[in-house]
Amino acid sequence: MACTRGALIVLEGVDKAGKTTQCKRLLEALRRSGRPAEMMRFPDRTTAIGQLISAYLEKKSDLEDHTVHLLFSANRWELVPLMRKKLEQGITLIVDRYAFSGVAFTSAKPGFCLDWCMKADVGLPKPDLVMFLQLSPAEASLRGQFGEERYETGVFQSVVQQRFEELRKDSSINWQVIDASQSVEDVHKNITTHSLNTVDTAHNLPLGELWK
Ligand code: TMP
Repeated sequence: MACTRGALIVLEGVDKAGKTTQCKRLLEALRRSGRPAEMMRFPDRTTAIGQLISAYLEKKSDLEDHTVHLLFSANRWELVPLMRKKLEQGITLIVDRYAFSGVAFTSAKPGFCLDWCMKADVGLPKPDLVMFLQLSPAEASLRGQFGEERYETGVFQSVVQQRFEELRKDSSINWQVIDASQSVEDVHKNITTHSLNTVDTAHNLPLGELWK
């Protein structure tokens, strides 16, 4: 029987790259083109695990670094049954951050290597497309101050950027680097082109397993 699943599309990038705005624009564009789509974001702060993560990010609680890494991963795993169900129903999922953020942020902390950080997410549904919104630290700083949450400092974000660069060397992932310094409209057009191609080809391909 022909497979008619939706595509798993992820947007990644450092803070201020415009991921959330672009996810919303893409969602509207896919729906307008008649392709069913929904948006998700990680961390999903609505679950019990997500609330632990949220309190940590808001600096209302402290958690040991390995522990919080595993919580971020558990927060993705708990949503996997729902993700699979939607993809099987032919719904394309547009995901704001995924395991790549998980690895890039934790491995930017002292004493963490990419390899250890990737382990907990091995076997997650593999994205059909990962678009990395590229923005230099200098350009990001022109977009205003960082917020109050944990990790929102220029120094930490530059290390995160380097970790993303290492992750992008993995040719088993369909990475597309998007120049996020362009206008919102141009970035949107670029993202939409990649996404439409992916949605139309994913229909006939089995869903893969991440980093396996
Ligand atoms: P947000 O601002 O997109 O809600 O992301 C929350 C923060 O959590 C952001 O600084 C990136 C970080 N993060 C991790 O450290 N690990 C993860 O697995 C994810 C998804 C996000």
